[in-house]
Amino acid sequence: MEGVCAVGSAGPDVPERVAAAERCAAVAGFGFSCAPEVGRLLRLAAASKPGGVMAESGTGCGVGAAWLHSGLIGDARLFTVERDQDLARRAAGVFADDDRVRVLTGDWRLLERHAPFDVFFCDGGGKRDDPQLVVELLAPGGVLVLDDFTPSSGWPPRYAGAVDELRVFYLTHPALHATEVLTTPTESAVLAVRRS
Ligand SMILES: C[S@@+](CC[C@H](N)C(=O)[O-])C[C@H]1O[C@@H](n2cnc3c(N)ncnc32)[C@H](O)[C@@H]1O
Repeated sequence: MEGVCAVGSAGPDVPERVAAAERCAAVAGFGFSCAPEVGRLLRLAAASKPGGVMAESGTGCGVGAAWLHSGLIGDARLFTVERDQDLARRAAGVFADDDRVRVLTGDWRLLERHAPFDVFFCDGGGKRDDPQLVVELLAPGGVLVLDDFTPSSGWPPRYAGAVDELRVFYLTHPALHATEVLTTPTESAVLAVRRS
């Protein structure tokens, strides 16, 4: 499914599978897919781990997974989990032709049995409810991507008038090298690598 399609995504070089997942989301009325700016980060992270094991919590309709998929090299694999059965079924259809991708249905902790991960896009389950386990599921050198933060100048980061303790947790975790990057003028992502 190679090709370029600008449907629903800004910028060049949008894989056809991402466009297919975006169409799937539109049909399902699902409005929480990752932005293309985050998608390109996911592709970059996946492509940095040839033969690696990628994971995503919260598949939605498969947009983020399709971006990760576009960066898979060699026999790299992708496990993505979605607790909403209907969404999981729709997303599985997007990857029906590639057995390197497994769409799991259920709670994000189903991912545990497939860890450690070389890339983990934690986007639905885990990020807030068990951040320590999120870190533990990373392989040494594994890359963690967390999106949907609101940029905050200065330290510590603040959100809604209070210190954003969750962001502080990831940015200062002793097992991680972490930073925060703008993905759009109004959104940021935390990127981290697990120390060896
Ligand atoms: C932000 S959306 C995911 C978007 C998707 N990652 C993408 O980039 O296109 C979050 C998804 O996580 C799912 N979710 C929330 N909590 C979950 C959990 N504990 N286990 C599995 N999925 C969960 C929701 O049903 C929702 O579909």
